[in-house]
Amino acid sequence: MVLRGKFIVIEGPDGAGKTTQSKLLSQFLHSKGIKYLYTREPGGTKTGDKIRDILLNPESKISNMAECLLYASARAQLVNEIIQPALNEGTWVIADRYLHSSIVYQGMGLDLGIDIVEDINKIATTGLMPDVTFLIDLDTNTSLGRINRSKDRIESRGEVYFRKVREGYLNLAEKYGMIKIDGNKSVEEISLELIKNIPLK
Ligand SMILES: Nc1ncnc2c1ncn2[C@@H]1O[C@H](COP(=O)(O)OP(=O)(O)OP(=O)(O)O)[C@@H](O)[C@H]1O
Ligand SMILES: [Mg+2]
Repeated sequence: MVLRGKFIVIEGPDGAGKTTQSKLLSQFLHSKGIKYLYTREPGGTKTGDKIRDILLNPESKISNMAECLLYASARAQLVNEIIQPALNEGTWVIADRYLHSSIVYQGMGLDLGIDIVEDINKIATTGLMPDVTFLIDLDTNTSLGRINRSKDRIESRGEVYFRKVREGYLNLAEKYGMIKIDGNKSVEEISLELIKNIPLK
């Protein structure tokens, strides 16, 4: 029997260090001889990448509910095509964002409400939940200061929105058993904290 792979999610506000840490965690798993896949959201599949283009294009006109459903559609495709099959064959998955992002960015940030976003995402993901979820927490000034590329449609929302996002994550952390990590620490320190909490057995 093949052991199911572990599903690890890295969450946090824009610029908190999710992608940096996903890469370091990937290197660690590789060094242990563990087969893994890295996914980022929205996207990660051909269909999902098309949805990503619509979602992040500053020219797109999208209602709040349509935004929520588009994220959920991209995620449904990612779970169906990539994440669930990988886990079933024993491959680990490192996901750079998962449904927690929707609860925070759309449910709380856009005031759609937590319950409805949770319901939509339960359906979209067939209830698949991570084995471990990390929350890299970082104050809004610092995290926004780290983004120096041109901003996409979501990143163009003002500071008030991103404060709601940061607070939203902190409020959600306990309910979703997220392991909170201080994003002000050095890249190396954060990486060690992640590795310490990886369920190797
Ligand atoms: N612990 C850290 N200390 C200082 N700078 C960091 C740290 N972690 C990441 N950075 C830097 O901050 C920037 C954003 O990091 P990264 O792209 O990993 O964040 P992210 O959470 O993936 O952002 P996004 O949500 O926009 O994808 C990068 O330039 C990265 O080098
Ligand atoms: Mg990133």
